[in-house]
Amino acid sequence: MDCIEAILGRRSCRSFKNQKIEEGKITAILECALYAPSPANKQPWEFIVVENPEYNQKLKDAVERSKEKIAEKSGWSWVPKYNVDFINQAPTLIVVVGDPSKNGAEQFLEEPSQGYEHACSAAIQNMLLAAHSMGLESLWLSLFEKKDVRKIFEIDEDKDPVAIICLGYPEHIGQAPTRKSIESKVRFIE
Ligand SMILES: Cc1cc2nc3c(=O)[nH]c(=O)nc-3n(C[C@H](O)[C@H](O)[C@H](O)COP(=O)(O)O)c2cc1C
Repeated sequence: MDCIEAILGRRSCRSFKNQKIEEGKITAILECALYAPSPANKQPWEFIVVENPEYNQKLKDAVERSKEKIAEKSGWSWVPKYNVDFINQAPTLIVVVGDPSKNGAEQFLEEPSQGYEHACSAAIQNMLLAAHSMGLESLWLSLFEKKDVRKIFEIDEDKDPVAIICLGYPEHIGQAPTRKSIESKVRFIE
């Protein structure tokens, strides 16, 4: 599969088959994460690979609690209906842990961005695309309180659990959500 095909074909997956992922595929996906760009090549990431259903359940419980909080604060009607059973279904979870002390030169500017978060996001996207190219699919999960995830996966206080990637063979893949047009999102300067 070529790169553009992988970018256009990848979909967020919220329904996984009960099928383990081969070890070689997990290693290849992690290798792709490590090749992501990062500010000053600080590589401000660590990955926790979880293949133990007890942890999936603990994570799902935490996400259900977050959903209640979000539903109450936002009033959004879709939140209580949002089914997160896929957390239990995913045979592999990859917790992406960022190190906020590992930003690049941008941290000294007037409006510094969080370089470590951007780098972790680049690593995540590499993993999602690599997974897709191997017949797997993924879900970038962010709907959790960081303190809950630190506790479940024993992550130090000074580290940032940026996201959790649910990985597996897809049982069902929905339609691609529509994208806005190039004209509405891009300004060309010539
Ligand atoms: C930073 C980030 C956080 C996300 N968090 C969640 C999440 O917590 N739960 C979820 O179901 N999807 C989550 N998603 C997936 C988006 O909903 C999804 O990418 C978007 O709807 C477009 O669909 P597609 O990935 O199939 O193209 C997240 C995506 C990103 C980039």
